[in-house]
Amino acid sequence: MGALAGALLAALAAGMIPQEAQARVTVSPSTLSVGMGETKTLAIQGATGAVSVKSSDASKIGVRLAGSAVEVTGLQAGTAKVTVKDKVSSAIASVTVTQAAASGGAAGSGRLLASNCYQCHGTNGSGGFKPIRGEAVLEIPKKMREMALSAPGNDIMKAHSQGYTDEQLKALADWLAKQ
Ligand code: HEC
Repeated sequence: MGALAGALLAALAAGMIPQEAQARVTVSPSTLSVGMGETKTLAIQGATGAVSVKSSDASKIGVRLAGSAVEVTGLQAGTAKVTVKDKVSSAIASVTVTQAAASGGAAGSGRLLASNCYQCHGTNGSGGFKPIRGEAVLEIPKKMREMALSAPGNDIMKAHSQGYTDEQLKALADWLAKQ
């Protein structure tokens, strides 16, 4: 082993040896991947006294103490940390929230399909000519069908709305609805 590697290991080990003899709280697993809308559980061990739990980003993950476990619910894609604290120490787990939709077929392509709309309707449908957010999202499949058939005067969307199957419109509307 090289001198540098040896020194690194020694430093690592030093940092990992608890200063006090008291048990430290741990949370496992220390990294977790959870889908949007999905709930997974982290186990808490070695806690001393009352335990509290905190999410570093409440817009990404919801956390709830459930006995000697933490229930973590994915809210929005990204990463966040769960901090578990007891009387003497704290432990952290890193959580990655994955786009649940990315795993499956038509729904997975919703994101890609919807990105075709952003140049005119703003990122995630948030602006542009006409925002396609909120209630407007629910109307997308119907409106797109109307526009595909509509009279001239709606030329941009007429052309655009003819290029999608019903399944694709549903997938992209579902995606936008979650933004
Ligand atoms: C090249 C620009 C452009 C692109 C790309 C585009 N749109 Fe549009 N869209 C428009 C314009 C302009 C209007 C307003 C048309 C009107 O009302 O006369 C519109 C209107 C709409 C409306 C009707 C809104 C309402 O409340 O009446 C919906 C729904 C819509 N677009 C959905 C989409 C979706 C979904 C996509 C992506 C698949 C998309 N658009 C891509 C330009 C665009």
